[in-house]
Amino acid sequence: MSLRGTDAYRDVGALPVLVRRAVEAARAHAFAFSCRPEQGRLLQVLAAGAPHRIAETGTGCGVGLAWLASGASAGTRLVGVERDAGRARVAADVFRGRDQVEILHGDWRRIEEHAPYDLLVLDGGGQAKGDGVADPARLLRAGGTVVVDDFTPATTWPPRYDGAPDRPRLHWLEHPELHNAELRLAADLSVLVGTRLPPR
Ligand SMILES: C[S@@+](CC[C@H](N)C(=O)[O-])C[C@H]1O[C@@H](n2cnc3c(N)ncnc32)[C@H](O)[C@@H]1O
Repeated sequence: MSLRGTDAYRDVGALPVLVRRAVEAARAHAFAFSCRPEQGRLLQVLAAGAPHRIAETGTGCGVGLAWLASGASAGTRLVGVERDAGRARVAADVFRGRDQVEILHGDWRRIEEHAPYDLLVLDGGGQAKGDGVADPARLLRAGGTVVVDDFTPATTWPPRYDGAPDRPRLHWLEHPELHNAELRLAADLSVLVGTRLPPR
């Protein structure tokens, strides 16, 4: 059985200090849907290659953003948007004293306030899963990266979900502004990673 979200950290040993703090906050507030450690490690690595700005939609209690902040350089600014007021407060608490991290309360579209980004993580809103869709041409710098979380690994082409073509996944994999790949992070988990093409 694979453990999901916050529970997946139960037996994970060494974690960056901020990640541990965010996981403890998620547990204390009974929030089960934090990003998994496999996803977090990928975010930490990608953050190291983002020199200026990083954003995440759907910040929850801040676990994914904590992985990002743990990998980012000292001068990189990070913005997380969360529509649930209670969770936005919890996340702001996790990052208290970390001036390079800002938590915005509201709809994911608030990321537009600080665009463009070097790295954009779509984990709650903007994923083309029914809550609007982020536009890489407006939100990403040329060469910037977008990560769309939480897919099961595709076993067919076109990818299918519930017996029908998986439209959100196809939206990203066939996006004309992006070079895209699906990365398998665990037997039951994959993410889509896209790089914005430079202007021709
Ligand atoms: C899967 S959880 C996020 C986990 C978090 N990114 C982490 O790594 O721990 C999704 C979050 O997105 C938030 N959310 C969903 N739709 C949203 C929207 N339209 N705008 C902002 N946040 C949204 C939910 O309230 C929830 O906290």
